[in-house]
Amino acid sequence: MTHIIAIATGKGGVGKTTLCSQLAHYLTRPSTSKRATKPVRVLCIDCAEQASLSFLLLPEYDTYEDMNLEIEDQDGSYMLLDGSDALPIPIKCNDTLDLIPTAMHDFRLSDCMGASNEDMTKARDKVQKIAKTRLYDYILIDTGPGRGRVQYAAMLMADHVLCPIRLENHSASAVAPLIKNLEAIDISFDKQYNLLGIVPMSYGLRESSDSHYIAEQLEAAYGDYLFKNGLPTSKAIMAFHRQRESIWTIRNTQAVRANMEKLGKEFLSRLKQWEKENARG
Ligand SMILES: Nc1ncnc2c1ncn2[C@@H]1O[C@H](COP(=O)(O)OP(=O)(O)O)[C@@H](O)[C@H]1O
Ligand SMILES: [Mg+2]
Repeated sequence: MTHIIAIATGKGGVGKTTLCSQLAHYLTRPSTSKRATKPVRVLCIDCAEQASLSFLLLPEYDTYEDMNLEIEDQDGSYMLLDGSDALPIPIKCNDTLDLIPTAMHDFRLSDCMGASNEDMTKARDKVQKIAKTRLYDYILIDTGPGRGRVQYAAMLMADHVLCPIRLENHSASAVAPLIKNLEAIDISFDKQYNLLGIVPMSYGLRESSDSHYIAEQLEAAYGDYLFKNGLPTSKAIMAFHRQRESIWTIRNTQAVRANMEKLGKEFLSRLKQWEKENARG
């Protein structure tokens, strides 16, 4: 079974792309176990016009311009939503991580803002087909800011939604519209969604004095949805954005790895919990 997760929120600059890329690297990190374990196969789908996930996962390109030149004629995430029957062919990032990219400012992805309900249903079927034929364990879909059709479609393609959040004033206000959108999907497409959780991002350093208060408010409002573990602000994450190399292979990233282990474990245990509940019906 493939777990398909969209990373979405109504706000920009919250950490969607960071969370998506870190989870992808976490799930495919080099194994430390002595026992031979089956490698985990992950597909990332970049559904954000900023293309920053594509850029992070394709470090062989020095600039966005270089990347665009190479990938703009290749299959991209727009092919999921263009209403055609064509399936995009993922790019191989490494042995276990693949990517359906987007080129920066790809007009074809912006055109998908006009996707009909049929196009969106088709997009979901296409992702299911890709999951089955290519045997992915996880598909992670990064989305752009705003609450457009493309983000809506990404949530429809997924079984779960992860919502990153900053512990700042008004950041909680991005969660309610997201939940509304998920409920709308439930009604319009008769599809059960699962909000896997709300993940606190970029906190700790130079913490605003009321961030504890905000965390308490979020806990009160969203209870169990709020992840116990998040991704605090760290220099290693900033370095990751600069160097575009996995924290599991860069040196001196033990602290952030330890955080990511905890966050990754919680992510997996929430998926397991959901599986258990769904098996019971
Ligand atoms: N835990 C973190 N530590 C340090 N920097 C972070 C962290 N999370 C996010 N950032 C920074 O915040 C910026 C916005 O994050 P990004 O993931 O691109 O947000 P979004 O995809 O929601 O627009 C990035 O430059 C990233 O380096
Ligand atoms: Mg982003």
